[in-house]
Amino acid sequence: MFPVSKGRASRQAHVQIPEGTYEEEHGRRGFFGRSSQLYHLNLPTGWTRVEGPLRPHLFAGARSAPPDLDDPNGGPLKILKNDDTEILISRRRHSMPYIFRNADADEVYFVHRGTGVCETDYGPLNFEPGDYLHFPKGTSYQFQPKTDDNFFLVIRSIHELTWPDRGLMGKHAFIDPMMIESPEPVAHRENGREFELRVLRRGELTKFFYPHHPFDVVGWQGDLSPIRFNVRDLRPVVSARYHMPPTVHATLFSDTCAICTFAPRPLESDPDCEKVPFFHRNVDWDEFIFYHAGEFFSRGGIEPGSMTLHPQGIHHGPQPNARASARNKTETREVAVMVETWNPLRICEEALAIEVPEYATSWSREARASR
Ligand SMILES: [Fe+2]
Repeated sequence: MFPVSKGRASRQAHVQIPEGTYEEEHGRRGFFGRSSQLYHLNLPTGWTRVEGPLRPHLFAGARSAPPDLDDPNGGPLKILKNDDTEILISRRRHSMPYIFRNADADEVYFVHRGTGVCETDYGPLNFEPGDYLHFPKGTSYQFQPKTDDNFFLVIRSIHELTWPDRGLMGKHAFIDPMMIESPEPVAHRENGREFELRVLRRGELTKFFYPHHPFDVVGWQGDLSPIRFNVRDLRPVVSARYHMPPTVHATLFSDTCAICTFAPRPLESDPDCEKVPFFHRNVDWDEFIFYHAGEFFSRGGIEPGSMTLHPQGIHHGPQPNARASARNKTETREVAVMVETWNPLRICEEALAIEVPEYATSWSREARASR
């Protein structure tokens, strides 16, 4: 089908939105497929009541108590999952007494709070807030935090996570590969006691016991290894005259999910141009966001450590207060991690305890309050 324009509509998407309307994008395949912009007289997310399973969700990550918070042998807490992607929280306070290997999935740790070292079979990687640690499927690792108060967002993807193709922007856009750190080998010459390696395969743990430290690599070469990079080294691609779709912030990509980072950046300066994300009704992707630091300008009532899930099929977009407060802003200092999944995410039972149910109708409440 070719593009057409009907009624009172802007000729360009996200520019010169007709006075008194809210723009909504109804699109296929995230922001890559066919789409139309619809101009509403009322907030597309202004429902006052929901009956049935579909709704936006907010989880208070700061209230979570994963099994690894106090038990060194415990694991992270599963929040959301589908058949290819899982989202978990780890708040590990103590060093891991075992080594862990995920033989089912790539793992990404985003460090929200805490510093320390993560030993791997390739060598150690230090970590600090704002770091991404990517462990390709089959990497063995052992977290050794130096701080008591630690918080990691963990993303597991059955399909390999790689760098997205930056196309015409070139190979240095968003993050220069020179800012990506890989470990220097440090061989542990230790024996005389038992070392435990836990391997996760097909969802089941198997424990292997070695008489020597398994991290005994004296050298390595190749193009597969755990890596580390920090959000302060991301240089977001922005336009003064156009609100770029969130996929421009894609950090790592697999066949079934995209991890994107909203990093500090200037906002659009053209007066005709929208500064806040437009309302959209993705029907092919679920959207999960973890809020790390700064002021989250598109959604009110969100604090660091909060997590939202906007499932496929319903609208999502900025809250009324956010639209008003964005008007005079020239930049945003927010840092948030977004995970978009092709397959719908299910909420794990353990996550229900930290859900904030009022979130589902927060747009209509805020709109009434600001009237
Ligand atoms: Fe979205």
